[in-house]
Amino acid sequence: MTTGTTPVLTSHLAQNYHPLPIILASGQGSWVTDVAGVEHLDLLAGYSALNFGHRHPELVAAAHAQLDRLTLTSRAFDHDLLESFANRLARLVGMDLVLPMNTGAEAVETAIKAARKWGYDVKGVAPEQATIVVADGNFHGRTTTIISFSTDDDARRGFGPYTPGFRVVPYGDAAALADAVDETTVAVLLEPIQGEGGVIIPPADYLPAVRALCDERDVLLVLDEIQSGLGRTGTTLAADLVGVRPDLVTLGKALGGGIVPVSAVVGRADVLGVLTAGTHGSTFGGNPLACAVGLAVVRLLETGEHQQRAAELGLHLRERLDALVARGSLVAARTAGLWAGIDLAPDGGTGRALSERLLARRVLVKDTHGQTVRLAPPLTITQDDLDWGLDQLADALV
Ligand SMILES: Cc1ncc(COP(=O)(O)O)c(C=O)c1O
Repeated sequence: MTTGTTPVLTSHLAQNYHPLPIILASGQGSWVTDVAGVEHLDLLAGYSALNFGHRHPELVAAAHAQLDRLTLTSRAFDHDLLESFANRLARLVGMDLVLPMNTGAEAVETAIKAARKWGYDVKGVAPEQATIVVADGNFHGRTTTIISFSTDDDARRGFGPYTPGFRVVPYGDAAALADAVDETTVAVLLEPIQGEGGVIIPPADYLPAVRALCDERDVLLVLDEIQSGLGRTGTTLAADLVGVRPDLVTLGKALGGGIVPVSAVVGRADVLGVLTAGTHGSTFGGNPLACAVGLAVVRLLETGEHQQRAAELGLHLRERLDALVARGSLVAARTAGLWAGIDLAPDGGTGRALSERLLARRVLVKDTHGQTVRLAPPLTITQDDLDWGLDQLADALV
């Protein structure tokens, strides 16, 4: 239908993404098949949402079984998986309480609310004065509050008025962070490794220094492990790599096993405990289907097998990428476990162009921030498949 000068629409899908030109129809493990029947190796894995690959048999079985039993109660009523999901997830990450939500952004919003309320109720910050220190280059989601402290112009511009109460400091600079903390500061919110930023790994002493500062100044350390967590870096949490325990941690993506959106804030009882009945919630948060899949994900991680595999295969990934640096336009490679950001020279073509050349070679990756491409293979990928994908990368570098 046309009205006035509106052009005839050929698609009714809003264009808030710029996907690579491929239409997928099915997937299994590390491989996906497009509508023409061509198989592609998925080296993006839903930005870590598919840490266990497509349709992992145990996760699919858990979902199927739950579909036949009970799918939604709302939180007006408890169901028989809610407590066990919370207990086992809390135990997995070694923390007290779990507050289940759905998407990553909701988990971050929940953590922000909990931190502010803790600041007023426990720390004694004056009403409406709470501040949270965040890092430039951050990516924590797309809600209006979260984009209020984004430093990415595309994510932020045009969506004001913005939520106040955030201070942005350079990522990886503990001294700058210390300068931004004052008596109004309730939390520091960071990604332990910035995923969307291009797998940016801070100096090894950064998070320990931030932890010490938070302890000293009575400030909560909130780590967003929505992309970095649940095995990706070779440890259950990326913060484990440097021996840091957050007060709150946000989890998402892989927690839903690539099947349903499942997120959570996990943390200290005295912090999450400030959220009491009626102060926060979500109709779908902690629903039975989500808990069934989330529990199956936790079971996969409880053995430590996937973390170990990510660590071991991650070393191989690092060796192979290091050998590619200076080949064609590839100027840098950063890895943490089975996760990598590779940078192309400014005159070496864009990350998008490299992603398209890889697509032509049946490998799926996605660019971020112009000259960077992120690799996040399923943790279940075979070494042969990974090597084949990296051979394609080597050929695609110009
Ligand atoms: C670190 C981090 N936090 C939060 C989010 C937002 O998650 P969601 O897209 O599920 O809202 C993302 C998504 O990429 C992320 O990488």
